[in-house]
Amino acid sequence: SRSVKLAVIAGDGIGPEVVTEALKVLEAATQTEPVTFDLTHFSLGATRFLETGDVLTDDDLAAIIEHDAILLGAVGGVPGDPRLKNANIERGLLLKLRFSLDHYVNLRPSVLYPGVPSPLAEPGEVDFVVVREGTEGPYVGNGGAIRQGSPHEVANEVSVNTAYGVERVVRYAFDVAQNRARKRLTLVHKTNVLVFSGSLWQRIVTEVAAEYPDVAVDYLHVDAATIFLVTNPSRFDVIVTDNLFGDILTDLAAAISGGIGLAASGNINPDRRFPSMFEPVHGSAPDIAGRQLADPTAAILSVALLLDHLGLSDASARVSAAVTADISARTTSGTGAAEPRSTSAVGDAIVTRLTDSLS
Ligand code: NAD
Ligand code: IPM
Ligand code: MN
Repeated sequence: SRSVKLAVIAGDGIGPEVVTEALKVLEAATQTEPVTFDLTHFSLGATRFLETGDVLTDDDLAAIIEHDAILLGAVGGVPGDPRLKNANIERGLLLKLRFSLDHYVNLRPSVLYPGVPSPLAEPGEVDFVVVREGTEGPYVGNGGAIRQGSPHEVANEVSVNTAYGVERVVRYAFDVAQNRARKRLTLVHKTNVLVFSGSLWQRIVTEVAAEYPDVAVDYLHVDAATIFLVTNPSRFDVIVTDNLFGDILTDLAAAISGGIGLAASGNINPDRRFPSMFEPVHGSAPDIAGRQLADPTAAILSVALLLDHLGLSDASARVSAAVTADISARTTSGTGAAEPRSTSAVGDAIVTRLTDSLS
């Protein structure tokens, strides 16, 4: 049978708690498939840094690259912890992985599952996917400061947008739209102010659109997009956007569709030159860590995205179905401390649904 080498980065805080449940679900969902998962656990994150001073060594990266895919829980310590001041786990670990492994698509679906309370009075049907660019924009670290600490300090953070980088993510988004029922793609940017990158994004979307006559295309400025995400989220099908806009929009998207405890993501290298990485959108949640309070659903839905990426679409669909069933059986809000079940109880319930459906 096929063997998949999976790198597991459980990370910090609630990361190890939710990854434990995600791995249980992975195992249960693939029991009947001709595949075995060969797991390598990497100790990375704030905990590792505090022990060894390492964030992500060349050896770590070389070893991770040898895998077929990566499952990540969450990394990062308590915000403001002075011992982590020089570590910059976010840039040095998470973004370094996304950039080094050329994760140019950051795929973030938003689905309001039946029975899940939304903070919106009338959310309507919420089922869209954000295709967030993952390797360019203001995230590249193309910046610097002079006269730091003085009243004349100048701090630059230059957004990098290349025709090559924009075109490949835009093409991916059109492919996603083409394969969805509504076949609708919205470019979100700020072309009225960011005129150089804006005209590049707009030009490439217009050019690629000519090759996808079935896909209806429209455009929204990012500020207006936040209005519609709250007033009329069902207008969205596929959103394609730059790295920073996508970061902000997907936290809002999570909030309107059941909360951060349900939001899954994939950092994808569609060329398959490098392993793709699947992770919940949330962070390490130090405020609830170690107490079995975290909702593992986002990590479990990230496993569904992972299975889909590996071509195991039946197993992926079984995970989504088990999660959907579990969510609609929940009586209170699906996330956070309001969730009456422990982290492992949620994982166990989803595993039980999977094993029942297979027997
Ligand atoms: P966070 O997502 O960790 O937490 C925000 C709030 O959401 C907290 O109140 C937390 O308790 C709650 N929450 C998050 N996940 C939950 C879950 N599964 N179930 C229930 N409640 C949940 O964001 P933050 O507090 O801004 O960041 C904490 C640390 O995580 C920081 O070091 C940050 O840099 C890092 N971070 C890492 C990632 C990542 O690894 N991908 C993403 C975001 C933030
Ligand atoms: C996310 C996070 C990361 C991002 C941070 C932790 C670097 O917020 O995955 O959404 O900005 O991409
Ligand atoms: Mn974010």
